[in-house]
Amino acid sequence: MTKTNHISASSPIGIFDSGLGGLSIWKEINQLLPNENTIYLADSKNAPYGEKSKQEIIDFSIKNTEYLLSKGCKMIVVACNTATTNAIKVLRANYNVPFIGIEPAIKPAALQSKTNKIGVLATKGTLSSELFISTSEQYRDSKDIIEVEGKGLVVLIEAGKLEQTKPLLEQYLKPLVNEGVDYIVLGCSHYPFLIPIIKTIIPANIKLIDSGEAVAKQTKNVLEQHQLLKTNNTNSHVFYTNGNLSLLQNFLKQIDIKNETVFFEEF
Ligand code: DGL
Repeated sequence: MTKTNHISASSPIGIFDSGLGGLSIWKEINQLLPNENTIYLADSKNAPYGEKSKQEIIDFSIKNTEYLLSKGCKMIVVACNTATTNAIKVLRANYNVPFIGIEPAIKPAALQSKTNKIGVLATKGTLSSELFISTSEQYRDSKDIIEVEGKGLVVLIEAGKLEQTKPLLEQYLKPLVNEGVDYIVLGCSHYPFLIPIIKTIIPANIKLIDSGEAVAKQTKNVLEQHQLLKTNNTNSHVFYTNGNLSLLQNFLKQIDIKNETVFFEEF
């Protein structure tokens, strides 16, 4: 158990992902909670987590958590579906700060689907996790949940080659369209960066759904419960990567960000 002394409302929210994908979650959190200080950790060196074993994902998640706690974070947002579904139980059992996780948004998609068919695009690590299997089981009686592994997508996004994902996306999404899904769940925090490309592939009546907004709302609720919500509006945002620094800076340009500092660090 790591000691977490001296945390207060002005301490930063720590956010980590296997790389740049969690920036889509950072953006939602910053939109809802603009007063908060944040520290973001992109473990790009070890991406993709989706192809790793459960134990490796747990080990990376512990390393990332320890790093963020060493920087004085008051809460950890696991902005990665793969890390959440494989490791959040272990994290919660070992550290005494609040953790917020992200999981594929099956519930809202299942509740709103009119065709009773939904698609889920996620990593192998997420789709094979106990948490995903047990959550999706709750809806399978009444809904067809069609899973597709987004193999190769995270690697291309991490290399900044977003346009090269198109042939893969066509291969993964066309069968879902042919099956008659009306919702596609983006079950990986990297995938919101692909929405403009995805929209050129699927018909306009198929809705895309991700968990970013729900994670931001949950972050706010939990901070309120712990009386850790920051109210004054002088803030700073620090981003660490153990991968390509200029790529991180390019991604930061895509999300509306002010007051940021960016570092390369070997963690
Ligand atoms: N952003 C991570 C997720 O949400 C990507 C996983 C990976 O690195 O494969 O699952």
